[in-house]
Amino acid sequence: MAGTTFATGLRCRICGEGYPLEAIHACERCFGPLEVVYDYQAVKSAISHESIAAGPRTIWRYRALLPVATETPVDLGVGCTPLIRADRLGKALGLDNLYLKNDCVNPTYSFKDRVVAVAATRAVELGLDTFACASTGNLACAVAAASSVAGLKCFVFVPADLELSKIINALVYGPNLVQVDGNYDQVNRLCSELADEYGWGFANVNLRPYYAEGSKTLAFEVAEQLGWEAPDHVVVPIASGALMVKIDKGFRELEQVGLIAPRNTRFSGAQAEGCSPVATAFAEGRDDVRPVKPNTFVRSLAIGDPADGPFALQVARRTGGAIGSASDPEVAAGISLLARTEGIFAETAGGTTVAVLKKLAEQGIVKREERVVAYITGNGLKTPDAVAEELSAPFKIAPTLSAFEDQVLHGDRQLAGVR
Ligand SMILES: Cc1ncc(COP(=O)(O)O)c(C=O)c1O
Ligand SMILES: [Zn+2]
Repeated sequence: MAGTTFATGLRCRICGEGYPLEAIHACERCFGPLEVVYDYQAVKSAISHESIAAGPRTIWRYRALLPVATETPVDLGVGCTPLIRADRLGKALGLDNLYLKNDCVNPTYSFKDRVVAVAATRAVELGLDTFACASTGNLACAVAAASSVAGLKCFVFVPADLELSKIINALVYGPNLVQVDGNYDQVNRLCSELADEYGWGFANVNLRPYYAEGSKTLAFEVAEQLGWEAPDHVVVPIASGALMVKIDKGFRELEQVGLIAPRNTRFSGAQAEGCSPVATAFAEGRDDVRPVKPNTFVRSLAIGDPADGPFALQVARRTGGAIGSASDPEVAAGISLLARTEGIFAETAGGTTVAVLKKLAEQGIVKREERVVAYITGNGLKTPDAVAEELSAPFKIAPTLSAFEDQVLHGDRQLAGVR
């Protein structure tokens, strides 16, 4: 159904050149990335805390700040995920005001459902019949599910070494899943060629300006859940860097349209040590992000040449945050710590966020009294092997009382939390 949008066009983030709202992502003049611009005055007069509260309990309650016109967007029930106060994890990390945004509970179990809902809606609006992506895993699941709901043909391209559970999590929705013998950066290059050749809608290639806007809803929801206030400090996992850049854009837009008071929210980023080009550039004080070859089990963050890396770097520097990294064992320990304190089983990206938050708190970069929100962006059932080795084996016994007492209660092994 036709409707209105407050998006007025696309603009190059480097040279400022304007473009129409089409399936394009790079500036013809300077190859810079394009982003969506809005008429914020019009948005301001159209929305209020009350109008948002009266909207659906999905990301579409923030439709005025998303680049879609239709009143019937692709809707899997994405967003409005819990923001929980994490006092037990906070205590373990020495933080008095820690919150977790639990995006593990989206329809396909990661925050990628947000960006994909916007990209899929634009694909339909633009009349495209095929929806596709280059993925480190989570995006493949989200694109495949959204294609089913939107009635789009679907191709998803993933690196050949992707975890089996992510492949199953994507295949179940019935896409054409293509395993490419190469790493994510090679998959991405192939997809750029395919987008040019076939004109399909690639969520994170030619639809990228729209796709990336979906991440702003992680700022909108957190602000609304905090009673229309921005937090003091956020910690965000970084792969391409788009998530971090767009959460920052989200808070600034809320200020601009008068929904929150200005606050310089500090942004810190988290990368896996085996793929940490942005953290390295931050540590070395450089503006350029030098590509690396990923070597980490944190596959969801394994982008060696991150498109939005330099912009994420700018956000961390401008806001007084930092970008840190964690080794694979530290990530596994982060997953366990999160599960054992807050009952959330996150995938490796979540373990990375917790592990880097722990370091930043120890270094005094994240401060004890700050109101901190850590973004937990994907579900641990997709990467169970990451922690399997850390866990103690279950007891195996005969179905008798004596077997339970001899082998479990009075056996050799120490029991967890039982006297
Ligand atoms: C679970 C999860 N968290 C965070 C990210 C990082 O997102 P971005 O590529 O926008 O930096 C990804 C990217 O694939 C992801 O799968
Ligand atoms: Zn340009």
